[in-house]
Amino acid sequence: MAQSPRPAGFYRQNDGQHDALVCDGVALAAIAAAEGTPLYVYSAAMLRERYQAIDGAFQGYPHALHYALKANSTLAIARLLRDLGSSVDANSVWEIEVARKAGFEPSHIVFTGVGKTPDELEAAVALGVKAINVESAGELARLEAIGTRLGRVVRVAIRMNPDIDANSHPHISTGLKINKFGVPLDEARALVQTLKSRPSLALVAMHVHVGSQITSLDPLRRAAALAAGVSLELQQQGFPLEYVDLGGGLGVSYDGGDVPSAADYVAALVEAVRHTSLPIVIEPGRAIAAPAGALVARVIDVKARTAESDFVIIDAGMTELMRPALYGSYHRIEPVAAPPAGDHHYEIVGPVCESSDVVGRDRRLPLLKAGDVVAIRDAGAYGSAMASNYNRRPLPAEVLVDAGAWRVIRRRQTVDDMLSLET
Ligand code: LLP
Repeated sequence: MAQSPRPAGFYRQNDGQHDALVCDGVALAAIAAAEGTPLYVYSAAMLRERYQAIDGAFQGYPHALHYALKANSTLAIARLLRDLGSSVDANSVWEIEVARKAGFEPSHIVFTGVGKTPDELEAAVALGVKAINVESAGELARLEAIGTRLGRVVRVAIRMNPDIDANSHPHISTGLKINKFGVPLDEARALVQTLKSRPSLALVAMHVHVGSQITSLDPLRRAAALAAGVSLELQQQGFPLEYVDLGGGLGVSYDGGDVPSAADYVAALVEAVRHTSLPIVIEPGRAIAAPAGALVARVIDVKARTAESDFVIIDAGMTELMRPALYGSYHRIEPVAAPPAGDHHYEIVGPVCESSDVVGRDRRLPLLKAGDVVAIRDAGAYGSAMASNYNRRPLPAEVLVDAGAWRVIRRRQTVDDMLSLET
């Protein structure tokens, strides 16, 4: 494949006079001037690079990447990943609908989620998705009833709760017994045995997902080994498993700290699973999308905070990017028109009427003034997807930069868009 000469993603470009933050070579200042702020900007090249790094790392070991739509399901992004050969993980019937609109076949969709309603389950059964990842004995019983009624054999995977600590933020750790996710190991084993006499259910895989933003391989490796071990056990008992689903969770470096490479991550999974000869399914979201997106915002005001620091109020906040307010997450923030180094002490806050609406705490940046444009980095995953209309703030526009050109992939919401749902 021809290699693009320009680097992928967001980087600074200096022509000797000006320093500018660009996305795939296009100046963010120019996009912001044309489309206004707040604005999500994505790099197509970076999305492709991140997908291909994981995909290529399998080096021929049978696998399928089911991109986790929850990270970012904007249609154009879903389509871009489909064009690379991706499959998807959908967490609601509405994500399944988006996946279908983006061109994914039912056989390329796994359906996960801790609280799937009967209507959602029935829609997924009728569609015939690759697997429904089952979270409880009750859900399995509901699926059995639906399968019997519709005369369908329902393809299921059972999500095990392995009681493994992902060592991530407690809000996004899912693999401990105290978390609401999955079926405890012993119960999962017992549940599988009942499937021998339940002809409308076909067990196609065992599933684990222990959390998100996991920055060491250890929990991922342990979860994979466990899923592989149970799968082997079941194969030996005659269950014709088709693959093992190891979930998502690979972290990204928001602050420059070390995270496992795609190659090391995949090598660890393959090593854990190889003895079963089963193909590997993974459900990465963040590792593909996060670094490929930035939230671009404009400074509205600067005002004194303490003797040493000022508030910088920008036109994006917890409504556009909820992660800092919800998890205390760190995202790099930099002015698009000046190198990010500086010694002004700022608290970067959004416009929402909540004191938790802080986008960046305790930052050292060059002098900022009203009108300046800043970029909040690594916001491609769980950014736009978690945005809300609080304070009647419209959902921001989204732009995709591809091969040196950019286009709006979602226009900015209007008040009329919001009110069109209301009487
Ligand atoms: N599979 C399952 C079953 C999941 O629950 C998740 C994420 C994924 C895959 C994708 O995980 P990833 O590869 O993106 O780590 N809003 C939070 C993240 C929540 C993740 C929820 N589940 C955040 O902004 O950090």
